[in-house]
Amino acid sequence: MIVLDRENQIFHLQGPSYSYILCVRQGILMNMYWGRRIPEGNHADLFTLAGEGASFDSPMNRAPREVLTQEKGYFGQRSLGLKNAGGDDVVSLRYQDSRVRAGKKALPGLPASYAESEEEADTLEIDLRDEVSGAAVTLSYTVFRDFDVLARSMSVRNEGGEPLTLTEAQTSVPLPGDEYEIIFLKGAWARERQAQRIPMPQGNFSIQSRRGASGHEHNPFLALVRPQTTEHSGDVYAMTHVYSGSFSASVDVGIDGAPRMMIGLCPDVFSWQLDPGESFQAPEALLAYAPDGLNGLSHRMHSFIRRRICRGFWRDRPRPVLINNWEATYFDFNADRLAEIARRGAEIGCELFVIDDGWFGKRDTDNCSLGDWKVNENKLPGGLKALTDRISALGMQTGLWFEPEMVSPDSDLYRAHPDWCLHVEGRERTTARNQLILDLGRREVQDYLIESVSSILRSASISYVKWDMNRNMTEGFSSVLPASRRMESQHRYMLGLYRVLEEITAGFPRVLFESCSGGGGRFDCGMLYYMPQTWTSDDTDAAERVRIQYGTSLLYPCSSMGAHVSAVPNHQTGRVTPFHTRCNVAMGGNFGFELDLTRLSEEDLRCAREAVARVKKLRNTLQQGEYTRLISPMDGRGRSAWQFTDGQRVIVCIYQDAASPNPQPWHVKLAGLRENAVYEDEEHALKCSGGALMNIGIPVPRAGKDHESWVYCFETGK
Ligand code: DGJ
Repeated sequence: MIVLDRENQIFHLQGPSYSYILCVRQGILMNMYWGRRIPEGNHADLFTLAGEGASFDSPMNRAPREVLTQEKGYFGQRSLGLKNAGGDDVVSLRYQDSRVRAGKKALPGLPASYAESEEEADTLEIDLRDEVSGAAVTLSYTVFRDFDVLARSMSVRNEGGEPLTLTEAQTSVPLPGDEYEIIFLKGAWARERQAQRIPMPQGNFSIQSRRGASGHEHNPFLALVRPQTTEHSGDVYAMTHVYSGSFSASVDVGIDGAPRMMIGLCPDVFSWQLDPGESFQAPEALLAYAPDGLNGLSHRMHSFIRRRICRGFWRDRPRPVLINNWEATYFDFNADRLAEIARRGAEIGCELFVIDDGWFGKRDTDNCSLGDWKVNENKLPGGLKALTDRISALGMQTGLWFEPEMVSPDSDLYRAHPDWCLHVEGRERTTARNQLILDLGRREVQDYLIESVSSILRSASISYVKWDMNRNMTEGFSSVLPASRRMESQHRYMLGLYRVLEEITAGFPRVLFESCSGGGGRFDCGMLYYMPQTWTSDDTDAAERVRIQYGTSLLYPCSSMGAHVSAVPNHQTGRVTPFHTRCNVAMGGNFGFELDLTRLSEEDLRCAREAVARVKKLRNTLQQGEYTRLISPMDGRGRSAWQFTDGQRVIVCIYQDAASPNPQPWHVKLAGLRENAVYEDEEHALKCSGGALMNIGIPVPRAGKDHESWVYCFETGK
């Protein structure tokens, strides 16, 4: 609901459990409040602005402005940067107008959250304008009736007579008070999204990607919490970006110690020329406040991302149990070898066989053929159709790997179009994994990709696509843009990528798409808008995966995480973990296998078959239920636990890194159950009240070996 008090110029946005209040003072849009929902009414008297201090601290430097531009003594970080025709960057945005619309409009060319009907959301649009330059800004705020997430975006129009250059486009919000800690997701290839919590510095804290992808190193996510906030209680303010390219997320602490939090396009690799009459739409940011701790934040974000970012046929459907051949064969396969692994997969209940890298061109290693999307008939005689027919005969569906955004220098595509890659004339074209990046800002490149991927998908019965992307941008510039627009290259690339993804996913609406970027190098809401799941990490080691999936779950739902059982010693770490633990960890995401099933022992095959049956039985709860973190693997004790609930069923997964001699007994306390309801786990002969499970907890058995794990499944009546 959006309550407008036009007389006092107050805008009160009310979600199910939050309020977000804006007001206009001296023509400037200010943020009065963001936090727990409060009743509507006139709160103007409770809002104070800092007055004149010493001459060094103007009120503008301390005002909780909603858009932070360079003007009148504001010395903090900007969220909107515009260079005027005269070369200065002063921008004085003043309130012009506002309106409320039912529903939510799509953002042109960009992924964004959506409303399914006009009744379920309202959008407030606020117009601001800088009279001197003619820069006109419209801010959009969408409040959802059933979701506790606020969607914000900004468009900028040049209504003046001179060109303007947009240098910064971020969503910022000032927060109340000065006592906070910062939570963010730090990582690298194969160890993505490790949750970090640090004290808020008195200065600027920022994370960035300049890579042309959201990246492995930092995820576009930031949360500010109180020092006393836990998983189950306390304030959390969080932001994410519905975008897959370079980004910046930061906390800028003002002179009074109060933070301004922001997220948006990375200013280091972005600028955009706005000629008179032109507009720019910035990507959307999602904001969530939770009064009930980090799990409260995750519950809100998970249901929103699952239902209002992810789209399409597979959004609410059970995801298939798959077997992928990458770690089983790498490039060394032929049709018979794949069919044999698929046959074993079918025997243990897998539903989908995924042919990974190496099926096209002359690709037997990673140094060639990207761009040549033609099947390699030496490896797969009769083409994809012959192989998919064999897989279908086993009762399974077939999936296929692509890496469409790339080109190998050793490819027919590169020989025909050496100018189609991002590059800088006269400089070396830096390769990574022996490949270059196509310039997706160019229409002809987009069209080539749409047609080449589509024609493969039309040529055989393919029901799943793994869309990979295995390097970041170095000389990330388009050769066809004029010098004044070169810094637009990265964002134009993203707009081109989004057009390609929209066309292909709309053209094949029943195909399940999973994005990937060397594992989780592009795990963000932008990609999830087109593809409802992402390959979480190339690290398939169960012990590592516990930490990766745990951190990922702060923001992203389990239904968005691909998780596979792989061989031991693990290919990334050399670690040996029990087969059932690998299954129990993979159950925390979209379950699959990525090993040579023909080499499994009878014992492991039996365990695999049981795990598949269990996942199929429980997957509605695992994929659509509410996920709650119970014990963190990041606290140094080597234990962790999480639970899934759907009202009737509670699934609890517990992991322990190392067995210890003479161990102390320990318990896992569940959360969010009904106190007086009776919960029963038949397999473990446990029957007790929700109150007992939440306060005494499950007694964890003694681990007889390292990397032990346990799964409990309780059922309850209504
Ligand atoms: C990187 C991916 O993350 C892997 O799963 C695999 O698909 C390889 N690329 C194939 O080249």
